[in-house]
Amino acid sequence: MTTRSLFLLPGDGIGPEAMTEVRKLIAHMNEVEEARFSIDEGLVGGSAYDSHGQAISDDDMKKAMAADAVLFGAVGGPKWDGVPYEVRPEAGLLRLRKDMALFANLRPAICYPALADSSSLKPDVVEGLDILIVRELTGGVYFGEPKEIIDLGNGQKRGIDTQVYDTFEIERISGVAFELARTRSNKVCSMEKRNVMKSGVLWNEVVTATHKEKFSDVELTHMLADAGGMQLVRWPKQFDVIVTDNLFGDMLSDVAAMLTGSLGMLPSASLGAPDSLTGKRKALYEPVHGSAPDIAGQGIANPIAMIASFAMCLRYSFNDIETADRVEKAISNVLDQGLRTGDIMSDGCTKVSTSQMGDAIVKAYATA
Ligand code: NAD
Ligand code: IPM
Ligand code: MN
Repeated sequence: MTTRSLFLLPGDGIGPEAMTEVRKLIAHMNEVEEARFSIDEGLVGGSAYDSHGQAISDDDMKKAMAADAVLFGAVGGPKWDGVPYEVRPEAGLLRLRKDMALFANLRPAICYPALADSSSLKPDVVEGLDILIVRELTGGVYFGEPKEIIDLGNGQKRGIDTQVYDTFEIERISGVAFELARTRSNKVCSMEKRNVMKSGVLWNEVVTATHKEKFSDVELTHMLADAGGMQLVRWPKQFDVIVTDNLFGDMLSDVAAMLTGSLGMLPSASLGAPDSLTGKRKALYEPVHGSAPDIAGQGIANPIAMIASFAMCLRYSFNDIETADRVEKAISNVLDQGLRTGDIMSDGCTKVSTSQMGDAIVKAYATA
């Protein structure tokens, strides 16, 4: 059996708490030899800054590059509010994404049947929801230059961020969205703001041309991103795949998270391009949520987003669809049993801790 190498970066706040639950599942898989994983671990975010003054070290970057896949917890928190911008915790995650060229971030929002009444929306709006946000992850206003604060010399300063997209970046992310749509309900909705942004005009043009050239079998619609946010809350089941830029994708995926009941439910996969010779691609799996400083250290965080991110790792890095399906089924079973962390708690259910939720998922996986 080939050994799959994982590099774990638990990070800060609830990141390490959630990662502990994934480690339990990996330990179980190694024990019963259904799959074999080797694990190495590094520091990222505030914990890396505290240890060596950087949000991720060059050494850990090399390990992330060399691993078959990276599992990432979460970074950030008020403890590091005052640190220099260049080494703030979030810079570690952004460096990983940029240096590993992880341009495609897949953020599925699935409403598990048992959670239809945990959403803040009416159950019939979210029941059966299964949408996929494909977020561009290495371009746009996150990385465009100039990005600076300049002193205007008259007691005023100017903060500048630059939204930039080149044709190839829009082509490759829309290609990912169209290809994934073919494996689902065959619909893509592209979201931008072409009414105010030049990059939005180009985005719309390139998505339309890519569709016409290579993917005309897929149904394509366009929506202004602000209206898209509204439609996500009004009737989310109209969507199958949504493709959008880095910043809109960040915001729209937090909105989509709440359709599923909690930010603690949403996993993601950040993928690079397949290598032309080996077909292997760099990949990092990260929950959509952050370090949740308000609940960190209490053992009450929901580990499902992190565990479901590991399921995405099995699917996208190891093509192990059977094991990925089994992990997702285990999550679903545990929710059907009525076990809930606080964020998804509802009447008649049993409230459990992070660790109890992790144990229950391993048990459901083992007995499935
Ligand atoms: P957050 O996602 O950390 O928390 C938002 C809210 O959701 C909080 O009330 C939190 O308790 C709740 N929540 C999030 N995940 C949960 C879980 N698994 N279980 C239960 N409840 C959960 O967002 P924030 O408060 O805006 O940001 C806190 C810090 O995290 C900031 O420093 C931010 O930059 C960082 N952040 C990091 C990542 C990442 O590492 N991928 C993502 C988002 C935010
Ligand atoms: C996310 C986060 C990150 C982002 C931060 C922590 C850099 O909010 O992954 O959704 O803005 O991309
Ligand atoms: Mn975000």
